[in-house]
Amino acid sequence: MQKGHSAVLAGLGAWLPPRVVDNHELSERLDTSDEWIRTRTGIRERRIAGADTSTVDMAVHAGGNALRSAGSDVVDALVLATATADQLCPASAPQVASGLGLHGIAAFDVNAVCSGFVYALATAAGLIATGTADRVLVIGSDVFSRLCDPADRGTMPIFGDGAGAVVLRRGETHEPGALGPFDLHSEGELADLLIVPAGGAKQRESADPHDYYVTMHGQTIFRHACARMAESSRTVLERAGLDVADVDRFVGHQANIRILQATAKQLGLPGDRVVANIGRVGNTSAASIPLALADACEDGSLQRGHRVLLTAFGAGLTWGSTLLTWPDVKPG
Ligand code: COA
Repeated sequence: MQKGHSAVLAGLGAWLPPRVVDNHELSERLDTSDEWIRTRTGIRERRIAGADTSTVDMAVHAGGNALRSAGSDVVDALVLATATADQLCPASAPQVASGLGLHGIAAFDVNAVCSGFVYALATAAGLIATGTADRVLVIGSDVFSRLCDPADRGTMPIFGDGAGAVVLRRGETHEPGALGPFDLHSEGELADLLIVPAGGAKQRESADPHDYYVTMHGQTIFRHACARMAESSRTVLERAGLDVADVDRFVGHQANIRILQATAKQLGLPGDRVVANIGRVGNTSAASIPLALADACEDGSLQRGHRVLLTAFGAGLTWGSTLLTWPDVKPG
């Protein structure tokens, strides 16, 4: 990226719905147990949005917190990463901008499911690099629990709801907080591995109610997630001229603690560099990375000067990574 045209992290915000659903509560409704969920996924509890809370509502909360953290509510564009837009049409981002009082700014959705936040960061960095925007609000918000069949023990324990956001500003390539390089990929041939078959424009209706919920091939996804996140992490490190040993904090998409551990192992990264908050939030899809960043800031494990590797994998399939040195930013 050109000097003077880098996207620099200037604010961070998170928001979780108040209702905590722990594994014991799920076990009362599903043929599962706290022990199975904890040992197979690392998840102890997750937040579930109430019926009156939507993706837009959560995004407004997290976005407002990020603007507060940045100390300014001036932004030229809003990029919303989500796979659970409030409506099929239009995009939700303009409603989020409106809810934040950001009238007239550019606002659009990016859907790369669980990789959405990294894709949205790259998109926002592109807006800044081309001079289209000076400051961009990037939000990841998903109510993924709504896509899960309440009777499905394969998906209900894994997903949770939430939103996280960052403010990016135009800055210098070598200053703390500058994002990049980026690495993004997809493999649409494998879309069926995690899919909601009905409800979209191709199949608006189905006689089978299960078609409106997510179906997932867990084990295959697991293998792809580890391999792709490791591969993409190596790519960004190589492009940056860095080694795995230079990574202070590994912030991977929070899908399963065993995926994070296996990916770190493939990379040769010590376990104490892995940031993990999946235990308390589950897989929050596009919100996962900013929520993990916010939690790591709060508990002191992520500090100014740390070199941070962000990597994500999601349905599509999609995956991608980027790097930054943590700046003097705290969650708002
Ligand atoms: N409670 C209890 N038992 C369960 C269960 C649950 N919630 N879900 C599955 N099981 C059972 C299975 O039926 C199977 O039983 P069997 O051995 O009698 O056939 C056994 O547990 C093992 O199932 P398996 O699917 O092999 O478990 P796993 O170790 O692969 O874990 C996932 C399942 C879904 C947790 C894991 O594959 C995973 O995390 N995959 C990635 C999913 C993901 O990240 N999705 C989002 C992508 S961004």
